[in-house]
This record gives sequence, structure tokens and C-alpha cells, in this order.
Amino acid sequence: MLNFAIDVAREAGGLLIQRLGAAKVTNKGDIDLVTEADIAAENLIIERIRSYYPQHGILAEESGEVNLTGGKQSEWKWIIDPLDGTTNYAHGYPCFAVSIALEHNGELEVGVVYDPVRDEMFAAERSSGATLNDRTIRVSSVEDLSQAMLCTGFPYNVRERPDFARDFANFTMTAQAVRRDGSAAIDLAYVACGRFDGFWEDGLSPWDIAAGMLLIQEARGLVTNFNKEPLSIYTKKVLATNGLIHDAMMKVLHHGV
Ligand code: IPD
Ligand code: CA
Ligand code: CA
Repeated sequence: MLNFAIDVAREAGGLLIQRLGAAKVTNKGDIDLVTEADIAAENLIIERIRSYYPQHGILAEESGEVNLTGGKQSEWKWIIDPLDGTTNYAHGYPCFAVSIALEHNGELEVGVVYDPVRDEMFAAERSSGATLNDRTIRVSSVEDLSQAMLCTGFPYNVRERPDFARDFANFTMTAQAVRRDGSAAIDLAYVACGRFDGFWEDGLSPWDIAAGMLLIQEARGLVTNFNKEPLSIYTKKVLATNGLIHDAMMKVLHHGV
């Protein structure tokens, strides 16, 4: 099933590249966009799952929960973000990814994040480690927040949640550098391979988190909520680190600098 996820993510990534610069954009909300490419990539992924694993459940960003025929419940559920980084994509800013995860009885088994611009395939399977283009990856070994490169994201209702600016300012004062890339799936994959030492965001959805969370766990990092409690993919507040700077980041989130 990992190979299947890799193949489908690569195929969907190819479709995104093909349509880059040409996909029609519509607004879901004030700053929340969807493009024809989101829909086409999602349809492609759902079609593949339907033909290879017709008994599996699906949770996809644009389609929601896709029910099985007869309303049956499956032990397996695919969690899909066909295009993470839609705003980047709509502007031709080359930072976006396909994110596909698979749960079995509520536990993540497989996670894949594919960046078609750099042709980077991040993949993980429970208890088998995480890879980037087939090479094993690990989180970084940075121990000190002052030496850390961090990343964050702003939720779409950012204008109603001014807290993000306070946290951004506080981390800018305490870490070596802070980035805002616009693709949570890529941000999490970068924590898994050590490019980022830590990531935080308030307001994520299951399809943003699922694959990246398994990548980080399998790369020996730590993913929790802002109180260091175990994360479910339905948790909105996500703190993901190499494990070593987790407490220091939590302190900044709770008490500032
Ligand atoms: C968004 C991106 C962004 C994050 C938002 C997400 P989308 O996903 O991951 O980085 O800050 O919270 O909603 O809409 O581009 O799939
Ligand atoms: Ca997303
Ligand atoms: Ca999306």
C-alpha cells in the first residue's frame, strides 16, 4: 500500500505540474482558494483508490468523507490533501505538495508527501522508518532554540486570530530563523528530514497533518499539541519538532520570550 500511495502521489503531482499557471481559481472564502487542479488531482486519487481498494474509506479535503456503497464502515481510511499549498499554487509560487496517508483502525500506517517541483518523495510506513527519495531520513540534532530554524503557517481565518502574530514575533526573537512557506505538508516533511528543527501551527485539518505526522514519528521526531499531549489528526494545534527543542518551543507558546 506504501508503493500504491507513492505511485498515486507521483501521478497527482504530475497533473499539478501540467496545470500550473493555467488552473482556474475560485474562492471558498475571503482568502481560502480552490483551483481546478485541486479538484482534478483529488478526483484522480479517489478514482485510483476506488479501483484498487474499493472497500476502503476516504477522507479528502474537497470531497469530505466519501461513503462506501451501502454505507458500510471500513477499517481502512485514506486521508488526502490533493494540493497542499493552494495559494502558492494559484500564484505560481513553487511550494506545494500532494499529501496522502492511510489509517487502519484509526492508526496511521502509511504517509506520503510528494513535492512535484523538486521531485521529492517523502514516504513513511509504521515501524519501517521514513525516507526521502528512498534514502532514510532523520530529524535534526539541534538542541538549542537559538540555533533552530523554525517554520509556521497561518490558518485561513488568520484575521480573526491575532495570536499568530504574537507567536511569530516571539519565535523570531528566540530562534535562529523563522519561515512561513504556505504548505503544512511540506513543512512537516522538512522537520522529518532535518531541514526545519521545529514547526507550529494553530488551525490545521486532518489532511494537512496525517502524512507529515507519520513521517516525523518515523524519523524519530515528536508531534504533539501545544501541551505536549499526543496528537490525533483532528487536533488543530500542532507542535512538531526534533524532540530536543520541544519544551523550549512550548515555553515560548505559553509564556512568550
Ligand atoms: C493550507 C496550507 C498552509 C496552512 C493552512 C492550510 P491548503 O492548506 O497547508 O500552509 O497554513 O492552514 O489550510 O488549503 O493549501 O491545502
Ligand atoms: Ca492543506
Ligand atoms: Ca488542499
